Amino acid sequence: LLSATKIRTISSMANEEGNTGNVKQQLEKVFDAALRATVPNETDVKPLVAACTAKFGDYQCNNAMGLWSKIKGKGTDFRGPPSVGQAIMKNLPPSEMIESCSVAGPGFVNVVLSKKWIAKIIQKMLIEGIETWAPRLRVKKAVVDFSSPNIAKEMHVGHLRSTIIGDSLARMLEFSNVEVLRRNHVGDWGTQFGMLIEFLFDEFPNSEDVNETAIGQLQDFYKKSKQRFDSDSEFKERAQRAVVRLQSGEPKYHQAWAQICEMSRKEFDKVYKRLRVDIEEKGESFYNPYIPGVIDALSKKGLVEESQGARVIFIEGVNIPLIVVKSDGGYNYASTDLAALWYRLNQEKAEWIIYVTDVGQQQHFDMVFSAAKRAGWLPSEDGSYPKASHVGFGLVLGEDGKRFRTRSTEVVRLVDLLDEAKTRSKTALIERGKAEEWSEEELEQTAEAAGYGAVKYADLKNNRLTNYTFNFDQMLNDKGNTAVYLLYAHARISSIIRKSGKDIEELKKTESLMLDHADERVLGLHLLQFSEVVEEACTNLLPNVLCEYLYNLSEYFTRFYSNCQVVGSAEETSRLLLCEATATVMRKCFYLLGIVPVYKI
Ligand code: ARG
Repeated sequence: LLSATKIRTISSMANEEGNTGNVKQQLEKVFDAALRATVPNETDVKPLVAACTAKFGDYQCNNAMGLWSKIKGKGTDFRGPPSVGQAIMKNLPPSEMIESCSVAGPGFVNVVLSKKWIAKIIQKMLIEGIETWAPRLRVKKAVVDFSSPNIAKEMHVGHLRSTIIGDSLARMLEFSNVEVLRRNHVGDWGTQFGMLIEFLFDEFPNSEDVNETAIGQLQDFYKKSKQRFDSDSEFKERAQRAVVRLQSGEPKYHQAWAQICEMSRKEFDKVYKRLRVDIEEKGESFYNPYIPGVIDALSKKGLVEESQGARVIFIEGVNIPLIVVKSDGGYNYASTDLAALWYRLNQEKAEWIIYVTDVGQQQHFDMVFSAAKRAGWLPSEDGSYPKASHVGFGLVLGEDGKRFRTRSTEVVRLVDLLDEAKTRSKTALIERGKAEEWSEEELEQTAEAAGYGAVKYADLKNNRLTNYTFNFDQMLNDKGNTAVYLLYAHARISSIIRKSGKDIEELKKTESLMLDHADERVLGLHLLQFSEVVEEACTNLLPNVLCEYLYNLSEYFTRFYSNCQVVGSAEETSRLLLCEATATVMRKCFYLLGIVPVYKI
């Protein structure tokens, strides 16, 4: 059996280095002690603790079955998994976390958490801040490669998805104290620049005349130059020569290229500003100087082979090879991604590199990652670091079930989409009489938070791999699983606290939180699980896990609020603290999803 000092060491460890909000990890420590006492001769037994879905408890330890198959026949006194479970339960060191335990079925050890302990941890968070509930991840530095539109082409809804999902993942990692390099891998290099530059020269012989309004919609500019490229062979030849002149660094060509990039950048920045997305551009052109060295290094390792005039890397299990130098000697998307991966690993020293694009690019990334593994840049075992992950997502569909477009031919302009979401939510607020109640500024801010929040949440709440249908009426509905509903729920809680007239900061320090009513306890336990959920959402790169948590949180709050009187009750101060804790966790969820909270409805 474990000595008392050893138990003490274990529990103080949990306090010092553990995140107090992570119930699962804290229980794992307690169960670790119990397991070591139960089977002292088994060395590598990891506690398996999970939140329960059944009504027997809040958490359960699932080690008994696995342990039984390990020790069976080794001359122990155990008669089967249930008796192993019983022994684990008996060997649990005393812990203030645990109210009661029971063994069920084939040896599951169910734990009912102490509501006093739950209350204590929540109160601690209220005083010390929700940052104390931040998950602790193994990784210290990550790259999130997201958004990444292409210069001179319109940023479309696919890029919107990448922007929204990538930003949320970056926020969750940052909250978990990971240093995140938010990278915009814009398509700013490639053969299309030859035709764009020549077209620019033709349309604006005087380079000082070049400006946004003169060029108009860059997308049109792209289209027109493409038309000329396809129909005019003299132009085509010039465009092809222009690519070479640009790549060899001729100043006039470089300047034209920079002008075109700058105009696109201004357009993209409008979207980022509206969405409050922070991102740093390191486009394809940035990695260009590194490509020859990287290809050389891969060649020296014997990875690069000749195939039909091109230089390629063969990947096991894939029919087509990864082309790293085209037959005309030029580089491509894959060459750039190999150089970028090398740079991120060796120059930026990132331990986790995350790429957010549509699922259509999955094979490309699989091949790039496989090549990196063959080169020894990345470890071949899954789960080791450094690690590269592709975060794929499905299509955005229109009401007709086809790829989302406004008019039949054109891609949707992102800015218009955001404008419409805002206008519609403003109209809804005016219909509710808010124009008389609020200042114009309040009306604008709320309309924007709800409108943009609705677009983001509609995207994030689905498993990212599935396609989803873009529907303003649905996403702006104030009922159901929508941002509007959630923002209103938060505003309602804020107003309960405001109207109580109590100084909540004072209450945090002087009053204690209690969770005596069953609905209070359910809400409290759910609050406590915030940290685990964020950890799961980040490690599995699934923002929808956090959305589901947030939606359930507001449901549990509603149940609590309809069954427990807050203002004017004997439990008023405790219940106000529970309201405050709920609002605090909700706000952090909004923040992690890139949504701006509202306080009034
Ligand atoms: N520009 C690409 C596109 O629009 C996305 C780039 C993704 N990032 C990367 N490192 N390949 O499809």
